[in-house]
Amino acid sequence: MKEQLLKIEELAKAELSACTEIKALDDLRIKYLGKKGELTSILKQMGKLSAEERPVIGQLANKVRADIEEALNEKLTALKASAQASKIASESIDITLPGKTQTIGKLHPLSKVENEIRDIFMGMGFDIADGPEVDDDYHVFEALNLPPDHPARDTQDTFYIKDTNERILLRTQTSSVQVHVMETQKPPIRIISPGRVYRSDAVDATHSPLFHQIEGLVVDKGIKMSDLKGTLEMLMKKLYGNECKLRFRPHHFPFTEPSCEVDIMCFNCGGKGCSMCKDEGYIELLGAGMVHPKVLEGCGIDSSVYSGFAFGLGLERMVMGRYSINDLRLLYENDVRFLEQF
Ligand code: DAH
Repeated sequence: MKEQLLKIEELAKAELSACTEIKALDDLRIKYLGKKGELTSILKQMGKLSAEERPVIGQLANKVRADIEEALNEKLTALKASAQASKIASESIDITLPGKTQTIGKLHPLSKVENEIRDIFMGMGFDIADGPEVDDDYHVFEALNLPPDHPARDTQDTFYIKDTNERILLRTQTSSVQVHVMETQKPPIRIISPGRVYRSDAVDATHSPLFHQIEGLVVDKGIKMSDLKGTLEMLMKKLYGNECKLRFRPHHFPFTEPSCEVDIMCFNCGGKGCSMCKDEGYIELLGAGMVHPKVLEGCGIDSSVYSGFAFGLGLERMVMGRYSINDLRLLYENDVRFLEQF
């Protein structure tokens, strides 16, 4: 029996040292020390022993039990510690790894310049007006003194949505917002209206079927051409610096009288003439003029009391001048290598 007990201890220790899982330890505890375990089944046979042998074997059995118990507990502590260590290792963050770069977007150059222009006009007390991109013939053309057969319509061919009596179309100019504003507001009016416009043009370095304009309109008593000049000069000086020079050239628009086009001295050559300004020394920026009395009257504004000026500038052109961009298509291609320069 003594040998059996020692054998059990030896086997138990061997199995314990090979054990790598806490769950398996429980099984070993049951196998060796449990009620139906190996040690118990030997102890059950104690009755067969002689009176001398019984206390000796009893003592040994207790020692074996205590040793196995101790070995089990030691193993449990060791397994728990290594489980904890591997949990910590698996959850730890290696702060020596290089981080992932987060690419942060930024404003498109068109939005940047538009925001600057908005800020400048808001500083001069203008409100921002919004108008529909899908509009009707009346607001885009007729109310702006362009009746159905007016030849100037040919320069602004657009996309028609519905060809009914009430022609619905994509606006070709933000000037339509002038009409919407004057129909709903009484003078004094002082607004700008930035937005998209559409024309049935083929794409090239200076044309796109979709582009952006900023319309301006001021209507009040005693508004004169000099107010228009002062306002535009203030805008351009704030945008391009005090040295910039504007040129007002007579022109014709059906909705203004008198009308003009406004050019800025070439950013590139300072007026001498270069490829950017096509040797002109100046670059055309916008159309403007004094609001035609017919347009005012059509919107219910008494032209004998009120007068106004209006202008419409092409945002793409302003951006291209600002950043010396020579091809309008670059603004729409969404090439990050281009856009991240601004
Ligand atoms: N709408 C004109 C265009 O697209 C630009 C323009 C000219 C707007 C004169 C105006 C203006 O408000 O008064 O060519």
